[in-house]
Amino acid sequence: MRLPLLLGEGLCKRRTLLCGILCGGEPWRRLLRSTVSTLSLSERARLRAAKIWSERQAAELEAAERFSWLAREFEAVGASASVRQLASRAADDERRHAELCANLSRYFGEGVARSGPPFVRRIAPAGMERKDALIYDVVALACVTETLSTALLGALVDRASDSLARRTMHSILRDEVSHSRLGWAYLAEVASPRAMQAISARLPAMLQSTLGDELFRRSSVDPLECAVAGLGQLERIERRRIVRETLEQVVFPGLERFGADVRGGRQWIEDRQ
Ligand SMILES: [Fe+2]
Ligand SMILES: [Fe+2]
Repeated sequence: MRLPLLLGEGLCKRRTLLCGILCGGEPWRRLLRSTVSTLSLSERARLRAAKIWSERQAAELEAAERFSWLAREFEAVGASASVRQLASRAADDERRHAELCANLSRYFGEGVARSGPPFVRRIAPAGMERKDALIYDVVALACVTETLSTALLGALVDRASDSLARRTMHSILRDEVSHSRLGWAYLAEVASPRAMQAISARLPAMLQSTLGDELFRRSSVDPLECAVAGLGQLERIERRRIVRETLEQVVFPGLERFGADVRGGRQWIEDRQ
């Protein structure tokens, strides 16, 4: 692993000093190793948290781009004014979340590099009819991702051990609830048997690309996990439990109400327990 990743980008002065002594031969490298290992648990937890919030800032900017794109698509296909407004407001919210995440990352010790708008790839598989593809994107982004995000943030707010982290997460949580609602509201307007059939067939792939592999990785106990849980990321086992329960109790029943067959999704999550 590269040294800057171990130390965190925010500790600029310390990093420069340590990178300097790293070039000074084995005695200096021994000093470096002992310096790193004597960082306290709480300091290492804050550095981990800084990195997590820095990555979240990028994810929020990506979400902002996706909601901007959705707002334009809603306009093009003639979605209701309320859904169009929810999408535009969500794009603004996500940009604000990105700022909040960047602030929190700096607060925990990592500077966030400014970059241009991210390149956002389409979620729906190629070849779907435009309106069906839009429904697919809305389900993946709002009904699945934002609903899971709401559940995870709710648990994080309860566990928060830092007052700025708690205020930030609480502020983001309020918006995520309405981003999730956007998805269900759009389904109520346009869900068709054909679109829901396409979603049913691709639900495992949608869950795979939304959740990835990290969540289901089995690894040894990480001593930082518990401390970081109060600063912005729950223990993996806890995240897994919340994701499973939210899928089973909210997302799958919600999709079934609009005619989806969620057996593939249920099997997907069961295979990962
Ligand atoms: Fe957000
Ligand atoms: Fe959101």
